[in-house]
Amino acid sequence: MAKLKVGVLISGRGSNMAALIEAAKASDYPAEIVCVLSNVASAPGLQMAAKAGIATEVVSHRDFADRESFDRTVSATLEKHGVEFVVLAGFMRILSAWFPQHWAGRLINIHPSLLPAFKGLHVQRQALDAGVRLSGCTVHLVTGELDGGPIVAQAAVPVLRGDTEEALSARILRQEHRLYPLVVRWFGERRVTVSGGKVEVTGVPPDATLLFSPDP
Ligand code: GRF
Repeated sequence: MAKLKVGVLISGRGSNMAALIEAAKASDYPAEIVCVLSNVASAPGLQMAAKAGIATEVVSHRDFADRESFDRTVSATLEKHGVEFVVLAGFMRILSAWFPQHWAGRLINIHPSLLPAFKGLHVQRQALDAGVRLSGCTVHLVTGELDGGPIVAQAAVPVLRGDTEEALSARILRQEHRLYPLVVRWFGERRVTVSGGKVEVTGVPPDATLLFSPDP
């Protein structure tokens, strides 16, 4: 089966992108990162991608009068590179309705909470303020709803007494770096289907779509 051609959208650090690039180095990995696109020219992740020999693109949202025309240009740029599947990895722009429609079933995001809890920004602050004992990250298909869309997989971590936002973020991020490459693998293997708003991963038992990491 041909490798799934993946485009990664970033706005900053790019550590999830880096985890995907690392995973895709394995010869049996069923996806290849063909393009990394950022809306911010100074995003550190762009340099990392270029160093790894991956095509990079910058499409600045500032050059567009409205969200949809920005989204259409992003999309056309990805398609120019042959992208078949889009991975949002710290992409800090709200998409117009057009983008998730155009990429329906072929667009995923990772969010640093156990959705549907704690959408939006300052997610770890929200989790600490709520006093939850577990948090984590969620990979979901992207629909028009912010941090909504069918859940593909989650990783849970404990929230420890005395945690700061930074400590909790770092604990979650370590799981993001395990979870995202795993999920992209499933898409590459064409195992993911959605029916009635619920995701099935063929050949993967439902409990394998939840990782749990009890930090020491
Ligand atoms: C991650 O916490 C991810 O969950 C969120 O944005 C952050 C991106 O980090 N969507 P990085 O750029 O991948 O390091």
